[in-house]
Amino acid sequence: MVPQLKAVIFDLDGVITDTAEYHYRAWEALSKELGIPFTKGFNEELKGISRMESLEKILVLGGKQNDFTTDEKTLLADRKNDYYRRLIETITPQDILPGIKEFIFDLKQNGIKMGLASVSKNAFTVISRLELAGEFDVIVDAALIQKGKPDPEIFLRAAEQLSVVPADCIGIEDAEAGITAIKAAGMFAVGIGNVERLVQADLIYHSTEEIQFDEIRAAFYSAKS
Ligand code: BG6
Ligand code: MG
Repeated sequence: MVPQLKAVIFDLDGVITDTAEYHYRAWEALSKELGIPFTKGFNEELKGISRMESLEKILVLGGKQNDFTTDEKTLLADRKNDYYRRLIETITPQDILPGIKEFIFDLKQNGIKMGLASVSKNAFTVISRLELAGEFDVIVDAALIQKGKPDPEIFLRAAEQLSVVPADCIGIEDAEAGITAIKAAGMFAVGIGNVERLVQADLIYHSTEEIQFDEIRAAFYSAKS
C-alpha cells in the first residue's frame, strides 16, 4: 500500500520546548559537584538518552564509573532530577518554541493525528505546563518503555496506540539517538538542529521556527514515491 501521512510523533525536549537546555544545566550542576568537566558538546550525546544512562555516560567521562554503588547512583540521578524539576517549575505556554503552535494548528486542520514520544519521566508535567496535553491523541508513558532511544520502541508504541502503521508516520526529533530511533521504526524523520549531527534525518530544519507543514508533507510523499 502507498503510504499516507496519518500521524506526526513528536519528541518533547528540544522540539516542543527548550527543556533540553534545562537537562543540560541540571547535569552540569551535578557534574560540577562530582568534579567532572561537562561541556555542551558532550551534552549532545545525552539528548534523547534516559536519566540513568545519561548518568552512566557522565561517570565514564569523569573516570568515576566504578566509584558508586547502585543505590548511590540512584541518589545522584534523583539529585539531578531535583535540579531539573526546579527549572521546569516556571515553564508556561510562553515557552513553546516558535513555529510549534502553528504547526500543530496545521496538523489539526489536515486531520493528522499527534503523538508524543518522550523518554522523559517528566514529560507529562512539562506538556501540561505548556497547556498542550489536550492536543495529543497519544502520550506514550516513558515508564512503560523497556528500551530507550536509539531503540525504535517508543515510536513504534506511539504508532500502535494511534492505530497507524509506521510508514504512515513522521517523527520529529532534535537528538541523534532520536533520529536513529525514528528511522529504525520505519518512519520519515524530521530533524531539528545541526545538519552534521542529524545526517540520518530525511528533512532537517535549523530551528522550529522554520518548520513548514506543506514542505514536510511534500517531502514525505516524494520520499515514498
Ligand atoms: C529526554 C532528554 O527527552 O529525556 C534527555 O532528551 C533526558 O536529556 C531524558 O535525560 C530523560 O528525562 P527525565 O526527565 O526522565 O530525566
Ligand atoms: Mg529531544
